[in-house]
Amino acid sequence: MKYRAFSVSFLCLLCFATAKTLGSLKRGSSLSVEDDSDFLTSPDKSFTCGFHGVGTNAYWFSIWFTSSKDRTIVWMANRDKPVNGLGSRVYLSRDGSMVLTDVDGAIIWKSSTNSSTSTVAERAELLDSGNLVLKDPSGKILWQSFDFPTDTLLPNQRFRKTNKLISNLGRGDFGTGYFSFYFDNDNVLKLMYDGPDISSLYWPDLDYSVFQNGRNAYNSSRVAVLDELGSFSSSDELQFSAFDMGLRVKRRLSMDYDGNLRLYSLNSSTGLWIITWQAMVELCKVHGICGQNGICIYTPGPKCSCPPGYEVADPSNLNLGCKRKFKKRTCSKSQEEKFVQIPQVDFYGFDLNFSNTVSIDDCRQLCLGDCRCEAFSYRLNGEGRCYTKSALFNGYKSPDFVGSIYLRMPVSVEAPLLVTRLNALDSCKSTEAQKMGSASMYDNTSKRVRWAYLYWFATAAGAVEILFILSGWWLLFRRHGARAPIEDGYHVISSQFRMFRYAELKKATKTFKEELGRGASGAVFKGVLEDERVVAVKKLADIYQGEDVFWAEVSIIGKINHMNLVRIWGFCSEDKHRLLVSEFIENGSLDKHLFPPNFLGWQERFKVAIGVAKGLAYLHHECLEWVIHCDVKPENILLDSNFEAKIADFGLAKLTQRGSQSSMFSKVRGTKGYMAPEWALNLPITAKVDVYSYGVVILELVKGIRLSNWALEDSEEQEAELTRCVRIVKRKIQCGEDSWMEDMLDPRLKGQFSRKQAEKMVEIGISCVEEDRSRRPTMDSVLQDLLECEGESYVHL
Ligand SMILES: *[C@@H]1O[C@H](CO)[C@@H](O)[C@H](O)[C@H]1NC(C)=O
Ligand SMILES: *[C@@H]1O[C@H](CO)[C@@H](O)[C@H](O)[C@H]1NC(C)=O
Ligand SMILES: *[C@@H]1O[C@H](CO)[C@@H](O)[C@H](O)[C@H]1NC(C)=O
Ligand SMILES: *[C@@H]1O[C@H](CO)[C@@H](O)[C@H](O)[C@H]1NC(C)=O
Ligand SMILES: *[C@@H]1O[C@H](CO)[C@@H](O)[C@H](O)[C@H]1NC(C)=O
Repeated sequence: MKYRAFSVSFLCLLCFATAKTLGSLKRGSSLSVEDDSDFLTSPDKSFTCGFHGVGTNAYWFSIWFTSSKDRTIVWMANRDKPVNGLGSRVYLSRDGSMVLTDVDGAIIWKSSTNSSTSTVAERAELLDSGNLVLKDPSGKILWQSFDFPTDTLLPNQRFRKTNKLISNLGRGDFGTGYFSFYFDNDNVLKLMYDGPDISSLYWPDLDYSVFQNGRNAYNSSRVAVLDELGSFSSSDELQFSAFDMGLRVKRRLSMDYDGNLRLYSLNSSTGLWIITWQAMVELCKVHGICGQNGICIYTPGPKCSCPPGYEVADPSNLNLGCKRKFKKRTCSKSQEEKFVQIPQVDFYGFDLNFSNTVSIDDCRQLCLGDCRCEAFSYRLNGEGRCYTKSALFNGYKSPDFVGSIYLRMPVSVEAPLLVTRLNALDSCKSTEAQKMGSASMYDNTSKRVRWAYLYWFATAAGAVEILFILSGWWLLFRRHGARAPIEDGYHVISSQFRMFRYAELKKATKTFKEELGRGASGAVFKGVLEDERVVAVKKLADIYQGEDVFWAEVSIIGKINHMNLVRIWGFCSEDKHRLLVSEFIENGSLDKHLFPPNFLGWQERFKVAIGVAKGLAYLHHECLEWVIHCDVKPENILLDSNFEAKIADFGLAKLTQRGSQSSMFSKVRGTKGYMAPEWALNLPITAKVDVYSYGVVILELVKGIRLSNWALEDSEEQEAELTRCVRIVKRKIQCGEDSWMEDMLDPRLKGQFSRKQAEKMVEIGISCVEEDRSRRPTMDSVLQDLLECEGESYVHL
């Protein structure tokens, strides 16, 4: 790394000192690798074209942004064949083609200029768009670099069926990597991992059809373009925009070496790139990154890990995955075997068999009965879903995956039966990477591949940090890529969601007899359907929508499925009646358990904090449709028989607001005491309003009483009280005073709690109720923070 940084800054020094840059290259003249000031620049100086070197011995003929802080290459002629630092040159030959030669005169690259045309190229020019063109005397373009993209697409560069953006091998390692962005045979733009062992598509989401992903497979023109405003549109109907849409911003769309496709904007004052859109939200869902048997985990950046019973295949290349520590099973000889369960982990693909509505024992038997079966994935999701696997690739851990992988291995292998923690593999051997650019590097490519991955893992963490910082903006543009929201994960969608007749619900609820609760959005009644399912039926008040709009909205909500969200079974829309039917949650709402005279133990409280964070994080970041809850409060947090939290009433903000002729969130929703200040300030409503309400709830979980009860009835006073408490606690924490604990903690816990968890919860609560919403964290990062101290033992003080 150091090496490269040095050489880059050295080059730049030279280029500013003795700039002899050219506007165009005439036929017969050349750029020499030795002369570091031999460059072509675009008229507006945005782009530079010349030799880019790493170390002293590896040079690439390239085009880069002139003004970014670190040189950002947008095109390369010879990515897999760097030339020597002595004697190499590029020239415009007499036959009008551009030629790159190495020290020994060997032709390394040649522009494929069409020789059958009557004219020959007379000059090479670099245009303001970043396009290197060869022109004939009349100015006609005979060849352009835009037709041969490397890993980057620039504004106004047409992306066609013959083009591919292929990632680099790693940061600073320009060789052809494993990830590509291209038009597939079905006319749809895709991302694919094409590695030594497997190749696998991973975007758009394979669990949905082309149509459900918002794409179209019928337009065979296969052309896409990023316009100057930062809007991308394609013939397969993929459309997205940078969140900072507008003119005069330098942008690029790059297939990054970590497998994500990202749109960037250049901040002209800092020279740094800002991510303004990206294809993958969860980097661990990129395929191929951790090799066979490897599992991608977040720490919080993505890292590879090996399951128990397995070890790193090649410590110098974590991408090669993990190998068994035990002998592979022979089909002829039977042996005693066991299954090691790893919750929240799944491997994508290589399914031998899929069955639903089976018990875990059946699933185990299915795997044991098939010699090829290496593992099975099982989830209880209303019904048991069982996938047996013949090989383990594309492994990832995700808090949203409500199932486990069970790895099959001999009983003799030392491994716990339940694994809750996976350790990231040590990947910090980057010293080796500094050898890059030595003479040996380009006569042996296999080594280069190895270094590439060291870079990858050293830097992937950084990329994800940026991702977290930016995830607030996600909300603004994820909507554009709206895809059909379906159950989390697999192909089979058992849609139990349906429309009910009013008469049916009337009967089920015995004419709305047993009222469970009542809120601004309507009253809820208990009911029993004909199939004996116990349900909660909500009569919605204030619905202005027509039937079709209601139907569209409600079916979106109906398909949202997460263990921490109340499952919606269906709806009814007849005449003036609008009802929602959802699962019935046994233990009622959080307020009935937490606040005096009732009492909730510490473990349950922490579990609720995590559950609610998971549910909200899913709604904000994961869920395929953009959902802000707008009314997070203890009354809307239900507890099932295991005290697992389930959020109710999500999606209602949309149902009850839209179509009311005024702007989307004109009417104040939410509940006094839990409402973020921006409601009152008439600011646009973002997911940060939920973060605020969550902050109040998590503080209440610690304190065990309503925060609003700390003060008087008057609402202004209430807010002031919360702010005052928070201020005092903050000051005490800053001063290292321990007494804040007494202020914040429920005395009824009598010492039965985990101090570390309580501290974390207070810290999160305080940051969530920041007045300035940009300082509040996202639900994703809140969840990460909580999960970090999930394993804390329960301390009796
Ligand atoms: C060369 O140009 C001719 C005439 O414009 C065209 O028909 C032919 O397809 C071109 N060949 C290549 C390889 O581009
Ligand atoms: C196919 O896509 C192109 C580019 O987006 C568009 O101009 C063209 O009208 C589309 N054709 C059809 C039949 O929709
Ligand atoms: C560029 O970065 C500076 C410093 O971080 C920041 O103040 C400024 O707002 C940024 N400009 C844009 C357009 O993002
Ligand atoms: C999957 O398992 C079921 C139950 O054992 C069996 O009937 C079916 O044939 C299997 N399917 C495949 C494709 O192996
Ligand atoms: C490159 O390295 C591989 C493995 O280390 C070796 O087999 C091969 O001969 C080397 N190639 C050259 C050109 O040195």
